[in-house]
Amino acid sequence: MKKLLLSLFIVMSVVMNVRADEGMWIPMLLQNNEQEMQEMGMNITVEDIYSINNSSMKDAVVLFGGGCTGEIVSNQGLLFTNHHCGFDWIQYHSTVEHDYLTDGFWAMGFEEELPCPGLTAVMLKKMEDVTDRVLEGVENSISAEERAEMIKNNIAKIKEETAATTDYELEIKAFYHGNQYYMIYNEVFKDVRMVGTPPSNIGKFGGDTDNWVWPRHTGDFSIFRIYVSPEGKAVEYSEDNVPYKPAYHFPISLKGVEEGDFTFVFGYPARTNEYLPSVAVDQEANVIYPVSVDLRGKILDIYNKHQEKDPKVRIQYASKHAHLGNGWKKWMGVIEGINNFKGVEKKYAFDKAFTKWANYSRSRGAYLELIKDFERVYAEYEPYRLATTYLSETALQIEVVTFAANFNKLAQVTKDTPQEEIDALIAAAREEAKVFFKDYYQPIDREVAAMVLQEYIDNQPADFRPELLNTIVEKYADVQAYVDELFAKTMFASEENVNKLLDEFKASKAKKIAKDPALVAYNNVMDFYLGNVRPKVAEISGQISELQRIFMRGQMEFHAEQNPDKMMYPDANFSLRVTYGKVGGFSPRDAVRYKHYTTLDGIMQKENPAIYDYVVTDRLRELYETKDYGRYADKDGSMHVAFIAGNHTTGGNSGSPILNADGHLLGLNFDRTWEGTMSDLIYDPSICKNISVDVRYVLFIIDKYAGATRLIDEMTIVE
Ligand code: ARG
Ligand code: GLU
Repeated sequence: MKKLLLSLFIVMSVVMNVRADEGMWIPMLLQNNEQEMQEMGMNITVEDIYSINNSSMKDAVVLFGGGCTGEIVSNQGLLFTNHHCGFDWIQYHSTVEHDYLTDGFWAMGFEEELPCPGLTAVMLKKMEDVTDRVLEGVENSISAEERAEMIKNNIAKIKEETAATTDYELEIKAFYHGNQYYMIYNEVFKDVRMVGTPPSNIGKFGGDTDNWVWPRHTGDFSIFRIYVSPEGKAVEYSEDNVPYKPAYHFPISLKGVEEGDFTFVFGYPARTNEYLPSVAVDQEANVIYPVSVDLRGKILDIYNKHQEKDPKVRIQYASKHAHLGNGWKKWMGVIEGINNFKGVEKKYAFDKAFTKWANYSRSRGAYLELIKDFERVYAEYEPYRLATTYLSETALQIEVVTFAANFNKLAQVTKDTPQEEIDALIAAAREEAKVFFKDYYQPIDREVAAMVLQEYIDNQPADFRPELLNTIVEKYADVQAYVDELFAKTMFASEENVNKLLDEFKASKAKKIAKDPALVAYNNVMDFYLGNVRPKVAEISGQISELQRIFMRGQMEFHAEQNPDKMMYPDANFSLRVTYGKVGGFSPRDAVRYKHYTTLDGIMQKENPAIYDYVVTDRLRELYETKDYGRYADKDGSMHVAFIAGNHTTGGNSGSPILNADGHLLGLNFDRTWEGTMSDLIYDPSICKNISVDVRYVLFIIDKYAGATRLIDEMTIVE
């Protein structure tokens, strides 16, 4: 009986790989999914989504700023993305007089739209399978290094040959862990301007407290516009540029969503690892993430304590807090999800089934020892991964130490260094110093330094510690004594000292910089890392990629035998993908059931003028009290703010359009539910949900809140 149960379990976990909601599909190959999508409720064809001959939805989706997704919503190149994706640009354009982060910004005419130097929007024009050409001459018998070298050369050659025939930018990306290669033709728009953003207490409502969490009430959107030359070419900013006329833009639906509705998300997921062996998932969820979570939690505690005491410090550390806190919270969710859903056990059962399958046929010989090889290599990898994690989550979290690194070049100046080079170094250091000290609060850094160094010493074996740590152990009464001395002696903890140094810098001062204890500390830990850790990490991760490539190939063969009708999807790799799933609430734990949407009532319930993340402006309260929602209200009369659905998304999907059965815009994806963040490793449709801001709330803010109706007038609205 037990045996029967076990084999049943194995078959189930194998089949688990093809659940409906799971998958991030290559749009060009979407024919394979069309039937399923239509059975789930889609009213359009996949040719409407991706066509090489006609305009299609893909012509309205862009990679925004290299890390997020944006979608075109008017025939004048108007672009939606998340507030947190536009954040750096909103900050860039903000000054004390025009604080767009706090107050929002709305260009009331084209001439008020703000250029963003360096910001790009990348649009995929077409892609083609170049696997045969990339792997030309690559035999199974050659070494991993030779293989990598040949592939690199082949890729360079293909790109060079193709470049002569096209104006588009080319990239060749590996899919399925190096088993397939696609060449992608991109149009790169370089004049993208900021058009509008709500104030942070709408665009970031709930802040880090609500981050990753459902129920959610964040109006996470901002608005940009693509400009091109009068001839329609994607060129750098110029005054003569004109709004872009896209081949397609998304109509916007005011109909809202109901439980069970079909949706799909079109965007640029960054990275997933769905095909790892159990040993890797175990290491990630039970060894590496717990360390990062623990260390970041302790740093965040220190931030919080000081941030609560002083509003100035709260602002200074807001962005640092958001950055550290985002991973911290996500990884906690991953650990919990993997454990609650027996992720490692499921992977383990799969590994066993896979090996058993490999055993059935001689042609599968390459797969027979794979799992064992993985176990050996990951065991070897573990201490080096930990070493890397400790370095980045401890020593490199001491701000004065990483700041000091900016002075390494000045420390090497000699009397032969040309003056103009020195001047450039000084100017660059001045810039860094200005940015650094604006948001630096020494009491936090001191406390963090003492804590992280103690953790580093306590948790890494002596031969995995940089010399510095052993010196602290041997020569100082305790870590605090070292930290006190570090801050007493370094010149990098005081803006005044740094400015003085830069004002009076001459070559003879270089030695003094080189001896500064903060810079010494930085170089000491980095030397250790570069000398003792990184080479080994490179070597082992090379072996792992090679094993993973073969494992992936094996999984595809295994899968094809069991499910001839449905392909396996490749891991995310920052290429354009489509994922689909149904709107719906879920049950995160016993007795709790989440609804699929939130409303403005929830914002008022969370409102707390004393807590920064929950401040509500008078204007929004007024609109709420008068229920002045216009055509943006739901048919139940309330203002819907956000909703969840079963789309398989990840980082990079921020800002992605979420579309209904007709391909009309329902909202903007911006997050996942905390319980389901394990979906980068293992997807479970019962808890893995994506969170989107309802487009009706977006339009309500633009129209009713901000009065930027000229933007609404450009859009195609489906009532
Ligand atoms: N969790 C989202 C993502 O992974 C949003 C992050 C930005 N928002 C924040 N409150 N830190 O990127
Ligand atoms: N907020 C994420 C992003 O910036 C999306 C959330 C996720 O990881 O799914 O891309």
